[in-house]
Amino acid sequence: MSVVVKSKHEIALMEEAGKRLSETLQYLKEQIRPGISTGELDHLGRKYIENMGCVPSFLHYNGYPASICISVNDEVVHGIPSREKILKDGDIVSLDAGLIYEGFHSDAARTYPVGVISKEARQLIEVTKQAFFEGIKYARAGCHLYDISAAIDDYVTPFGYGIVEDLVGHGVGRNLHEDPQVPNFRQRRKGIRLQEGMTLAIEPMINIGTCEVEWLDDDWTVVTADGSLSAHYENTVAITDGEPELLTIER
Ligand code: MF3
Ligand code: CO
Repeated sequence: MSVVVKSKHEIALMEEAGKRLSETLQYLKEQIRPGISTGELDHLGRKYIENMGCVPSFLHYNGYPASICISVNDEVVHGIPSREKILKDGDIVSLDAGLIYEGFHSDAARTYPVGVISKEARQLIEVTKQAFFEGIKYARAGCHLYDISAAIDDYVTPFGYGIVEDLVGHGVGRNLHEDPQVPNFRQRRKGIRLQEGMTLAIEPMINIGTCEVEWLDDDWTVVTADGSLSAHYENTVAITDGEPELLTIER
């Protein structure tokens, strides 16, 4: 396993990649409404990214056929957008997007409500987001990688939710997926010691019910095994000599 430590200059490029991605997600959030298809959202996202002169990094990645992963309700991640798939009032929709700017990737995800959603769904979305913020309290030079995993687990588990274990966060940089893997659940080991210049995509995926997931026949879409709702929240994070820097956060 080799973790790539980025220089100040490389971090500056990743800051720009992150800023552009957060703008993309903010734009897409504004397009969400009952009646829009996930295929249309993907199309709008691809155009937005390309119009900035960037490359949508998911498109054709390991054969993935779209630019934005769009996962509705019990879909956890990697949902495939379609013009036939129409969002309706009460749905929750996860948008996961990545782009390349000057050779560097940024990667981020959010779960948004469609119209008016249930109290249960709102809480799931909030807890998943907060799990990320609990985790990054340990995204600091000198902490161990799995301090992040444990903090997410300790925050989420009391809610009775299932933390997805089959998919994890990851290093990110010149490649979409770099070492190390970043699990969202407690590990027995401590993991590597974090250093300034490491860049991680930290991404809790949380289900209201069981942690177990299944893959659909499209070979991509991951769904909860019990059909319960799932939420996702992800940012690209740089380890600094102080506070973690959230490269893809809304500004
Ligand atoms: N954000 C996803 C991840 O972290 C990437 C989507 S996989 C793709 O790992 F194939 F759709 F690109
Ligand atoms: Co990711």
